[in-house]
Amino acid sequence: MQAQIDQYTAEINAFSPANADELETFRIKFLGTKGIIKDLFEQFKTVGPEEKRTFGKVLNQFKQLAEAKYNELKESFDSGLKTPDLGLDLTLPGDDFVVGSRHPLSLVRNEIIDIFKRLGFVVAEGPEIEDDWHNFSALNFPEEHPARDMQDTFFIKKNHGQDDIALRTHTSSVQVRMMEHGKPPFRAIMPGRVYRNEAISARAHCFFHQVEGLYVDENVSFSDLKQTLYQFVKELYGEGTKVRFRPSYFPFTEPSAEMDVSCTICGGTGCNMCKYTGWVEILGCGMVDPNVLENCGIDSKKYTGFAFGMGMERIANLKYVIRDLRLFSENDVRFLKQFQTEML
Ligand code: PHE
Repeated sequence: MQAQIDQYTAEINAFSPANADELETFRIKFLGTKGIIKDLFEQFKTVGPEEKRTFGKVLNQFKQLAEAKYNELKESFDSGLKTPDLGLDLTLPGDDFVVGSRHPLSLVRNEIIDIFKRLGFVVAEGPEIEDDWHNFSALNFPEEHPARDMQDTFFIKKNHGQDDIALRTHTSSVQVRMMEHGKPPFRAIMPGRVYRNEAISARAHCFFHQVEGLYVDENVSFSDLKQTLYQFVKELYGEGTKVRFRPSYFPFTEPSAEMDVSCTICGGTGCNMCKYTGWVEILGCGMVDPNVLENCGIDSKKYTGFAFGMGMERIANLKYVIRDLRLFSENDVRFLKQFQTEML
């Protein structure tokens, strides 16, 4: 019996389980209801009184050893500290967690969406690959309009007609989709990426981001357009910002205008950004041309509407003074980490 106990003691001392399953096997083997210790105590009953005295002590010590070993290992597994198989020290301090920052275009987009949401506009999205109808024809672009030309548009399929497929050149296509599939009133903004066939430089890129807006209802007038955009600018650039409208032309709006704001960098006194004029252009706008409403199945005698569109890069530029458009898409971390961290 002594020899047996010595052998088991050596086994217990050497025991080093790799996982909790091995420890459980150990428990069943030694401490289980049909385990070795139970068995030894059964044998103990049969020994003579002289041996009982010596063995009683030895047996109790052996039992305590097995229990202590088990409890110690169990605790280290439960607290997750026991990883002898991996050789890891889980008590070491962790690596620094680097918190990212939002891309400046995301910051600007979120801010624009926020302002227009408060003015009652919802957000609408549409496909970046568009057909001729949604990108051009429904928007009153004449057949031979130069904007349809290969120079401005990335065509995917070109048949010189209604089956042309292209990367959308503006998010006005989403306005068409919205009007075709619903009933007025509409009050929505359309943020998204658009594509134009331009050589990439500091001032031009083959893709950029727009936010366009549409408001169609009975009795919508040019003064609603002015007031909405004025409110937007005050929220975006501050109370004292001035706006001015200049007549312009777009095929899908009549009348059309471009809107300038007092320079956000110098406040109107003249600087590099505004080329010493005190004004910077931020968007195009106008009253939706009745032809566009009719093309989308909306009664132009009953309904009127306004639309506007702006480039997000331009808005971000006036906020953060980013002189090279390419920075927006290069994803250089040294550039990106300068912007505000918003997610905490
Ligand atoms: N779609 C025009 C553009 O891409 C912007 C615009 C939208 C102008 C709505 C007027 C009204 O340049």
